[in-house]
Amino acid sequence: MCGIVGLFTGCTAVSYCPKRLLTKDSEVPVPDSPESVGNYRSPFRGWDKRASVRATPRRELPDETGGQYFFSPDLVPLARHELVRDLRPELLEQILIQHLYRYLDFTAKLEQVVVNRTALGIAQGTVSLRLQPDMRFDAYRIYCDEAYHALFSADLMRQTEARTGIAPRLPVEPYFLTRLAMIQQEHPEWRALAELVFVIVSETLISGSLGEVPDDPRVVPTVREVVRDHAMDEGRHHTYFALFLKELWAQSDPTERRVIGTLAPTMVDAFLRPDLPALREELTGYGLDRDTVEQVLAEVFPESLVRKTARDASQQTVQHFRRLGALDDPAIRAAFETYELV
Ligand SMILES: [Fe+2]
Ligand SMILES: [Fe+2]
Repeated sequence: MCGIVGLFTGCTAVSYCPKRLLTKDSEVPVPDSPESVGNYRSPFRGWDKRASVRATPRRELPDETGGQYFFSPDLVPLARHELVRDLRPELLEQILIQHLYRYLDFTAKLEQVVVNRTALGIAQGTVSLRLQPDMRFDAYRIYCDEAYHALFSADLMRQTEARTGIAPRLPVEPYFLTRLAMIQQEHPEWRALAELVFVIVSETLISGSLGEVPDDPRVVPTVREVVRDHAMDEGRHHTYFALFLKELWAQSDPTERRVIGTLAPTMVDAFLRPDLPALREELTGYGLDRDTVEQVLAEVFPESLVRKTARDASQQTVQHFRRLGALDDPAIRAAFETYELV
């Protein structure tokens, strides 16, 4: 990233960037501590045999996909709306392929632009936490995993475009990056901490529905394999970031704890709320008139459904905060209640 620094003017990774260690205003890395909270039992003990980057082949699209879907229609609400399904059935394939592109683009950017900044900071010891050496070493593994997830996502996107001839229609920036930047602008003094909370939340949310992709026989096997490869690695990441949250909590003062706890539900919402502007643009691009587009979006994503999806996906995340006693703080509890997560 630093080699092409012109592309990253105003880079927000400054607090973790190892390049900063080379400059005179660098932050001194916090030394490892065998006395950090509890005993760390690494979730990566079998990593060398099990990690996707080590154990799985490159996933290649077959020459013929035999009319199979590029994503599960059950998981793409737009495709199921009657105004699309009945009036423009020929759009189904395009909508599913665009959904796949959005998912892959989202994944590649999340891993490279956000999660790996944190993994890098943990590995380099610049996140201002005392961590056990094994926990810090595992951040190198996460860094590899996430880089590989970004690679196979970009790879599948290129293969799909070459095979189908359908070009991706993607937003300039995935919505979660825009929302994270907005939250950080609202809390400039907690910029770095906000990014840590975002990563903890995004790594501990569980998308029940995405887990169904590998089992849907209507979907192209290559897509199912890529989703499965990713899910296998993310199970380990979930455990790691739950432990990381515990460390962060234990080593934070009451003010920082309140910031962490009140930001968490905001991050859940930022991460999971549908990207309506991008979907609006996609539907408009198919030639649907403005009223129809608004009707489809309002009916497909009612606020009650958005909230329920967030509540379902964040159950484990909420549980991690509950176990820390975070919800005993009335301000933190109120924040979780505002988003109807508890
Ligand atoms: Fe990942
Ligand atoms: Fe991850």
